[in-house]
Amino acid sequence: MNFIFLGPPGAGKGTIAKYVSREESIPQISTGDLLRASVKAETEIGQRAKNYMDEGKLVPDELVIDLLKTRIKKGDCAGGFILDGFPRTIPQAKALIEAEIFIDKVLNFKASEKILIQRLSGRRTCKNCSAIFHITNIPPKKEGICDKCGEDLFQRDDDQPEAIKKRLNVYKQQTFPLIDFYEKEEILADIDTEKPISEIVEDALSVIK
Ligand code: AP5
Repeated sequence: MNFIFLGPPGAGKGTIAKYVSREESIPQISTGDLLRASVKAETEIGQRAKNYMDEGKLVPDELVIDLLKTRIKKGDCAGGFILDGFPRTIPQAKALIEAEIFIDKVLNFKASEKILIQRLSGRRTCKNCSAIFHITNIPPKKEGICDKCGEDLFQRDDDQPEAIKKRLNVYKQQTFPLIDFYEKEEILADIDTEKPISEIVEDALSVIK
């Protein structure tokens, strides 16, 4: 089965997707992670995407759609997948339909703006295994070090106050309309994320199963 994790920046899509991915044995495909890997590898897509990402803007549709389609062709997606952060615009959602990539459920992760800002400004990510922590909500055992692989944690460039503000506005203008789009398809389920992670995982799994 194929799923979309939709929601504003900081709602916890990536955090919950990692648990569901393990539980269901299906890959988590984060377009944010794919783009950050392309920037790091200095590929053509990465070079074109970097400024948009640093400023908190969306990367142009055609770049992300190509990146996503290439990833979905890989063998590990044959048994299903979680799209984390894609689609983010109506043209991206339509591109899935045109490519005959069918979605079974869309999980709509919800949280107040105050919570989103608190989560994003304290997020730390492992530079090696991409595990996600938070300086107060989900702190690593040793400050600045990943519990899972022992590598350093870093703060994302787009988790600075100006970029956070921009990303939240971009979400409202360009991504929020997808809620209506998927409601009309009758595949949308709301997930309240203002509770402990174990409970959110349970809620997400009950929608998926
Ligand atoms: P991307 O990497 O996708 O970022 P995002 O959507 O802005 O989402 P985040 O990763 O910020 O939030 P999340 O919901 O995954 O939260 P997380 O689990 O980390 O995209 C980055 C950029 O790439 C975009 O701005 C854009 O430029 C570009 N891009 C990507 N996809 C694109 C697309 N399709 N089209 C165009 N451009 C695209 O959690 C956040 C924090 O909260 C963490 O610290 C976590 O530990 C903590 N936390 C999570 N859940 C809880 C909880 N229940 N309680 C307490 N703390 C919690």
